[in-house]
Amino acid sequence: MRILVTGGAGFIGSSYVRRVLAHHPADEVVTLDLLSYAGRLSNLEGIRDDPRHRFVRGDIADADLVDGLVAECDAVVNFAAETHVDRSLLDPAAFVRANVTGVMTLLEAVRRHAKRMLQVSTDEVYGDVEPGRFSVEPDPLLPRSPYAAAKAGGELMCRAYVVSYGTDVVITRGCNTIGPRQYPEKMVPLFVTNALTDQPLPVYGDGMQVRDWLHAEDHAAAVDLVLRQGRAGESYNVGAGNERPNLDVVRALLAHLGKPESLVVHVPDRPGHDRRYALDWGKIRRELGWRPTRDFERTLADTIDWYVTNSEWWGAIRRGTDDFATYYERQYGWRLAVAGASGTGAR
Ligand code: TYD
Repeated sequence: MRILVTGGAGFIGSSYVRRVLAHHPADEVVTLDLLSYAGRLSNLEGIRDDPRHRFVRGDIADADLVDGLVAECDAVVNFAAETHVDRSLLDPAAFVRANVTGVMTLLEAVRRHAKRMLQVSTDEVYGDVEPGRFSVEPDPLLPRSPYAAAKAGGELMCRAYVVSYGTDVVITRGCNTIGPRQYPEKMVPLFVTNALTDQPLPVYGDGMQVRDWLHAEDHAAAVDLVLRQGRAGESYNVGAGNERPNLDVVRALLAHLGKPESLVVHVPDRPGHDRRYALDWGKIRRELGWRPTRDFERTLADTIDWYVTNSEWWGAIRRGTDDFATYYERQYGWRLAVAGASGTGAR
């Protein structure tokens, strides 16, 4: 089968492209990515020139481009999205364009050419989850940030295509994901790269917000299984059973790096910050036999070790042309030190 992977130069997307090429020798992948900022050609290093892989730079909201690519593929897996909650609070419109209009543009081509589409979504569409509860797939979508609302909007558009046109769409809702090549704006890679450069770690509020942590390769495996075996029109939660308060994650991260806890700085909380996400992922386990293959310690250690060995990758972002430093200074009010792990100088 030939799979169109949109957002395939991003964090989880590139892990998925690698997985398909490695596990399905008869399959081909066409990666469509805008390379806006979190999508990076370096994420496809080693596979970009694989004879079973083709890279196309472009936007999922470009109807003509998308139509041609969908026509020549058997299925679409959509990782393309604006994904960072803090950026969604600064610029919600960009999130609606990518996460709602972009999804609708893909759906329209998928409908016209009668293909299957997998929409990669998030546990954040359920909103805040009270202690003791776990979100199950039929629960209402009660998003609370512009990011989560836009992802929920994309999901609802999928639902409309399933119901109105009988389009073959499946949805995954993943929990917080970490691993190699995650853009260093998200908590874990930001804190690892700050710690490696002896910069403070900005913990929002009391740091007792709870997230469930999944390795990108386990996430990619779940997406692949749902694409191939998921029931049309269904959604599947993809959790890990690794619920931790942020401060526990931060302490474990600092301990792994041998850095002091004095690097932690509590900063004002994110507006509307969801206190807890927690998924019941019994459905994907029962129906498709998926389960994560790494525990929390291994997931975190693998992630940290990748950033330790790949300081060139994240050093380029912190020094780079996509204005990470501008975002960082706007978000935290701090100047960014751009040196890699072995460097020292602040900008
Ligand atoms: P993040 O990685 O942005 O993922 P999400 O908001 O989608 O869950 O954040 C994970 C948790 O870490 C979340 O509770 C917010 C918190 N956080 C901080 O405390 N400080 C930070 O600088 C960032 C980016 C996140």
